[in-house]
Amino acid sequence: MKFTASHILSIAQFERVDIEHIFQVADRMRPYANRQKLTRVLDGAILGNLFFEPSTRTRISFGSAFNLLGGEVRETTGLSNSALAKGESLQDTARVLSGYSDVIAMRHPENGSVAEFASASRVPVVNGGDGSNEHPTQALLDLYTIQSELKSQKRNIDGLRIAMIGDLRYGRTVHSLCRLLCLFNNVKAVLISPGELKMPDAIVEMMESAGHEVVISDQLEPNITDVDIVYSTRIQEERFQSQQEADLYRGRFRLNNQIYTKHCQPNTVIMHPLPRDSRVSANELDVDLDANPNLAIFRQADNGIVIRMALFALILDVADQVDAHARPVNWYTPGR
Ligand code: CP
Repeated sequence: MKFTASHILSIAQFERVDIEHIFQVADRMRPYANRQKLTRVLDGAILGNLFFEPSTRTRISFGSAFNLLGGEVRETTGLSNSALAKGESLQDTARVLSGYSDVIAMRHPENGSVAEFASASRVPVVNGGDGSNEHPTQALLDLYTIQSELKSQKRNIDGLRIAMIGDLRYGRTVHSLCRLLCLFNNVKAVLISPGELKMPDAIVEMMESAGHEVVISDQLEPNITDVDIVYSTRIQEERFQSQQEADLYRGRFRLNNQIYTKHCQPNTVIMHPLPRDSRVSANELDVDLDANPNLAIFRQADNGIVIRMALFALILDVADQVDAHARPVNWYTPGR
């Protein structure tokens, strides 16, 4: 695909060669993400960071990624703090904010909302999550993490065996990740969820059409014995009609050190898009796994920076200029 000036709305717009290109650019962003060097390649550029739904890591990492490239960030958070609450349409909001920004990142609770916004935007728009539909940048950082975690085992994404656990109906991260895995070969996906929260049929059919093996189950322990990755997810309580309905499923699948040690292979990588729900009623990924070196969740979150830097650099056509605008950092940075 042509990255320059493109919206990033869905994994469907990528081919495998595009993913490999993004990952190569992301690798080149590592010294900047690690504060070994700084660059001002986007000096003067403005990111409009519009988050109409709660977020910690996606919003901050979009902003930090843009800052690390030398650009500035202007934000609005929450529907009630924006003129959408006064009845302004998404398209009018896009017409206005694209006059204030060089690129826009956006999260919104409605499926398809970011594409609707992008249709009226004069600048590129990146989907930071639209309802239960897609979260493409999360899938990119997830796959980048899988690739880097498996490298030490001399395995790659082709032939991957992954268990996805939890709310696969409303979890947009797993929807985008499954779409992304369809660009690779010979994947086995074990989809573990309550029956009511199973992966949408269209995505299962897409995986099978790509030649992948798909196993569907509502049982955790017997299905995590023979996989490279366990990818746990949160019950997306904000998508349910009521808290009582979400309560039916919260805590159904809990991974802790005892279950991991008993059922997983010793080098199985543990992932989660975060936030993990650490309340007693959920505890889907117990803190007793925090000392386990195979717990990749914070390396995964860190990878959001290099992936989002790479996307901004590609969209704004500066990927080959980043190093020409580099200089040393002035301040103390741990681990440098
Ligand atoms: N993974 C993810 O989207 O996290 P946030 O909701 O904190 O952005």
